[in-house]
Formats: sequence, C-alpha cells, structure tokens
Amino acid sequence: MHVLHLAAECAPLAKVGGLGDVVGALPPALVAAGVEASVLMPLYGGAEGELAHRAGPLVGVHEGETSFGAQRLPFRVWRADASPVGAPVYLLDEPVHFGGSGVYSDPSGENLPPERWAVFQRAALDWLAAPDAPAVDLLHLHDHHAGLVPVLLRHDRALSRIAGMPTLLTVHSADHHGIAPWSVWERLNVHVDEAETLLVEDDLNALKAGVVWADAVTTVSPTYADELATDPTVSRGLVETFRAARRKTTGILNGIDAAHWNPATDPHLPSTFSADERAGKAATKRAVCDELGLDADRPLIAYVGRLMPEKGVELLTEGTERVLHATEASVALLGAGDPEHETAVRGLALMLGREGYADRLSVTIGFDEALAHRLYGAADVFAMPSMSEPCGLAQLYAMRYGAPPVVHAVGGLRDTVEAWDGARGTGFRFDAFTTGAFVEALRAALAVHAEPEAWARLVACGMARDWSWRGPAQTYADLYGTLVGAQTPVA
Ligand code: ADP
Ligand code: GLC
Repeated sequence: MHVLHLAAECAPLAKVGGLGDVVGALPPALVAAGVEASVLMPLYGGAEGELAHRAGPLVGVHEGETSFGAQRLPFRVWRADASPVGAPVYLLDEPVHFGGSGVYSDPSGENLPPERWAVFQRAALDWLAAPDAPAVDLLHLHDHHAGLVPVLLRHDRALSRIAGMPTLLTVHSADHHGIAPWSVWERLNVHVDEAETLLVEDDLNALKAGVVWADAVTTVSPTYADELATDPTVSRGLVETFRAARRKTTGILNGIDAAHWNPATDPHLPSTFSADERAGKAATKRAVCDELGLDADRPLIAYVGRLMPEKGVELLTEGTERVLHATEASVALLGAGDPEHETAVRGLALMLGREGYADRLSVTIGFDEALAHRLYGAADVFAMPSMSEPCGLAQLYAMRYGAPPVVHAVGGLRDTVEAWDGARGTGFRFDAFTTGAFVEALRAALAVHAEPEAWARLVACGMARDWSWRGPAQTYADLYGTLVGAQTPVA
C-alpha cells in the first residue's frame, strides 16, 4: 500500500511548528511498520533555494502545466530520495506562488495569499492523474492546505483516473481554516452542486471542505476530536461540520521522533543525560543559563512555542511577570509569531529588565531549533498555557528532557500530561483559563521542585513515558487498511 502525505511542512526541510515535526516523523515510522509512505510538499524557494539544498540530490519526475483561472502555471515535481526525512519526499516546484522561501509569510512577516494552497493542490492532482505519476493507494492530507483535495478528486472530470482514491484528512489545527475569496474556488474551474459544503458565509473554507468530503478524518488527540464537535470556540465556528463528521473521525495522539528528541544523544545539548544518569541535565542548565545571562541557582521555567493567541500568550506574559515578583524562579522564553505578540513579549523583557530582573528573564524572539533543544534540556519546569491545544509536542519533548510541564488541561495536553498526585504523575494541570490558575499551577510545581526526592520521582515518571511513533503509526496503518479495503471501484 502506497500512502502519499500532502502537507505544507515537513521537518527538517520546512518547519514552523508541530505540523512539520509530524509530517517529518510519521512517514518514516509508517515505513518501519511496513507501509510504503512518501510526502509531497511545495518546494519553497525553488530548485536553487535552501530547502532544495537541504533535501540533497533531486531527481526530476514530472513536468507539467496547471491552470488557475486565466493563468497557465508551469510546474515540476522532484523526488528527493536521500533527504534527511527518512521517507521519499516529492517536491512541487511552482515558481509563481512558491518561488519565495516563506511557508506562510514573506520575510517582512506579511501572510502570503491563501490561493497558493489551491494552486498546490491543483498541481498535485494534475501530476497524480498523469501517466508518469507513482501509483498511490491513499492520500493522507494534512490541515486546510490539502482540504480541497477530496472535493477536487470527486468532482473534477479531468481527474477520473484517480477519482476513487481514498482520502484521510488529519486536523492538526482548526485555528486556521484556509479562508479565501470564493473567486479562488472559481479559478479551479470545477463545479460542485453542494457549494454550501465549501462555504462559510461567502468565503471558501478549505478546512470545512476537507472535513465534509474526506473519507475519514483524524484529529491529533482524542480530546480534541470531542472538543471540535462540542465547543464552538475550539473549532472557530465549524462545530456543526465536526459534529456531522463525528462518526468518521478518530482521535490519534501524535508520537515523537524518539531518535531525534533524545537527551542521551542530542547533539544540541552541552551535556547529554538520561533517566538513569541525570548529571548532564544539571550541566546543561548551568551552560544554558550562562549563555542566556540567567542565575543558574534558581529554578528555571521555560517556554518554547509560537507566539499566537491559541498558545495563551497573554497568560504567558502576565504569568511571567507575576512569577518573577512572587517566586524565586527564572524564566526563559523562545518564540516567534504574530508581530503584536512578539512586541508584547519584547516589551515585557524591557520592563522587567528595568525593574531589576535582567538575570531572571531571558527572551529570544525568532525560530531557533538548536536553542529549543537546549531549553528543553535546561528547564526544570516547562510552561504551556495554551488556550486550546490539538495535541502539542512541546510538552512531550519537555517530559522526555526531564522538564515536567505545567499545562492548561485541554485537548492533547489533557490526554498526555498526568497530574502529579504526590506519588505519581508527569506534570501539573490547571482548568480555568486565567493567569491566576496558571500561576497557581506554576507555584505548585515550584513547591514540589523544592522537595528533591519527590521531584526526582516526578521527572523519572515523565522521562520513562514512551511517546514514540510506533503505536500511533500502527493505528494509522490499520485505519488506512479499512479505507483502502472499502474503496469502491470507479467506473
Ligand atoms: P504547534 O504545532 O501548535 O506550534 P507543537 O507543540 O505541536 O505546537 O509543536 C511546536 C514545535 O515547534 C516544537 O517542535 C517546538 O520545539 C517548535 N517551536 C515552536 N516555536 C519555536 C521557536 N521559536 N524556535 C524553535 N522551535 C520552535
Ligand atoms: C498543530 C497543533 C499542535 C499539534 C501539531 C502537530 O500545530 O497546534 O497541537 O501538536 O499541529 O499535530
């Protein structure tokens, strides 16, 4: 069975957040489980760009031209067999929309136009319907960037050769719907009688379209599947769509790339460590605190994540200020995202620096993979006050790196972090989405941190958890089997 993943990100070739981690790790785990899996993503920056360079030698497998309204768009598909991903990666090279290196925004931080995802999907399907395309048994689609694929497959006569291909859509996040003017759909030149299945108010909504038309839907945690179908705020207005799709929806928790995210071998850490040999964690903390100008004798709370509303940035900034005032701890923040949130976090650092907290607060704005690894390794406590969280990988990395997380008990955070009860558990949870509840939970964590024996037990519990992809990959493989088995031949 050959499963092709369509996605906007795939680590380490292109990563903005956890989507990249998943698409970079699940296909190789599927390969290990006996499923032929490959990835198709845009070649951001073209064949001479940085991504192409990272992907290693490229073999040209297709040259074509797709139509988008009046535009004729030549494109090529390259295959990277020796990329660092560990599964074959196909790169779609369409210079008009993907000539720049940005995934979602341009170098000035401006969001790129939504129609590029329509072009990506159009060209991807034109290629898959061509005689020189590889045989594919199932399309595994990720987020709204691939949400129109099931609709196009079922309605575009030009795709009749592949129209019966089963589709599975994984919802990593319903915070972004891929909303575009209806004219973007019209430029695809495909008629759908039930246009309302693609629309929210007057706009094209690619996430809704995918959820309605995919043969099966998965969410990246079981609790998120329930939240999407019941809580209008979590789905951002698509609760009816998710409710109607509930029977074809399964929640499958993400795994982690346990070889890449391993504190015993991580080349980014100043000193490696493991559950049995934790001296390297203390050495890592000391080195990272020196690097960031922090007092290493204090407990260290870290945050690594996108600075977006869904991540609870307000709780993070208010909570940081209160924790510095009310406890002995230091805080290290690493993030990039909305310009307004970046400015707010920078402002906080300036203000608290002036108040005399310069050796207790470090703020790094930007994307820095190596520093992220060092912070997981150095932290005593990891903060994750997300407003909503489909799964979350950061808390899994934190647990593995001996930094018990303090999390808002929603979505995947609820499913993965077990509250410490004095004898068992892997972290700390809070229910009310308020700064007070967050700070209370951080203080509870710091109180346990002050008891070395209890803390050692808690850290050991987290580090012992198996978050590898082996189990989830098998669950996906089983689901693929039911979908491919159920495939009805197309006349
Ligand atoms: P999301 O996908 O919503 O951003 P996850 O917790 O699933 O959240 O995954 C976030 C991933 O992105 C993790 O690998 C995390 O380490 C990484 N990450 C987020 N922000 C940054 C940053 N500024 N620098 C480096 N890595 C980051
Ligand atoms: C999304 C979600 C995050 C999840 C990641 C990978 O970005 O916000 O919770 O872990 O996708 O599935």
